[in-house]
Amino acid sequence: MSRVNVELKARDPDPAATEGRCAALGAVAAGVLDQRDIYFWARRGRLKIRDGHGGSELIAYRRPDSAEPAESTYVLAPVSEPDALTEALDAALGTVVVVSKRRRLLLWEGVRIHLDEVEGLGSFVEFEAVLPDAGDLAEAQAKLARLRAELGIEDDALVSAGYADLLMDAPQALVRAADGAMRSAYAPYSGFKVGAAVRAPSGAIYAGANVENVAYPQGQCAEASALGALVAGGETAITAVAVVAEKLEVCPPCGGCRQRLAGFGGPETPVYLGRPGGTPVTVTLGELLPSSFGREALSE
Ligand code: THU
Repeated sequence: MSRVNVELKARDPDPAATEGRCAALGAVAAGVLDQRDIYFWARRGRLKIRDGHGGSELIAYRRPDSAEPAESTYVLAPVSEPDALTEALDAALGTVVVVSKRRRLLLWEGVRIHLDEVEGLGSFVEFEAVLPDAGDLAEAQAKLARLRAELGIEDDALVSAGYADLLMDAPQALVRAADGAMRSAYAPYSGFKVGAAVRAPSGAIYAGANVENVAYPQGQCAEASALGALVAGGETAITAVAVVAEKLEVCPPCGGCRQRLAGFGGPETPVYLGRPGGTPVTVTLGELLPSSFGREALSE
């Protein structure tokens, strides 16, 4: 079964006020749903199992990242054994991220209004016009524009990425991955354990630790290990970096690693330095290594 949706999502600093405005428009409350979406690695688009009150379903979908009302096409398959299927998909494909949320559902003129409280991200409002319930495409878009105006949603509140992407982008996910790798660091000579994690444009996180050697100069930094994992995973670009050290609250990457990272990221790529649970110091690759040697130098 393939369907088309038109969607809009925004951060919502005041969900109670939003609910009040929706009620004033005549939206009808249609229940509260606790949902958990488990995302698996997929060749094309996104693949997730959604567990909710009404049972579980496997959902394959594609959705362009856009802050404007966007169309998405999806395929739903009911799942009768979600735990077994989750285990099988995790074993075969691997799990990317788990999104847990409490959703208050309101219905208005064929548009589903979601007031979402997302674990680790905060409050959001989402409009989902399912065609043809909400009319044709132009009509559905007009309805979303009206709702947006009535709720006073400003441009800077709009969110183009899905919750899964937002969670993967969150510094904490990267810092945790770096910390996990750091615990496996092999640093018997310096006693200084470091972990690094890089995020690729696919959303995947690759982590690595420093690996020392009895012949000291042969050692490898955590950042180099993480980049090795990135390339072994078939990717060649990074969108964010985290570095964690056991004995240093904020561990700035060494000079050589700044160049290594700059070779895969851009000057705006954020680098999070800190520990899980705290707020990391955020710098950019450009700040860490201004005037770096880049690919353009080789194209002359
Ligand atoms: N180290 C890293 O892994 N990354 C850095 O950016 C700084 C240093 C490692 C290398 C060596 O194994 C230990 O920390 C002490 O220098």
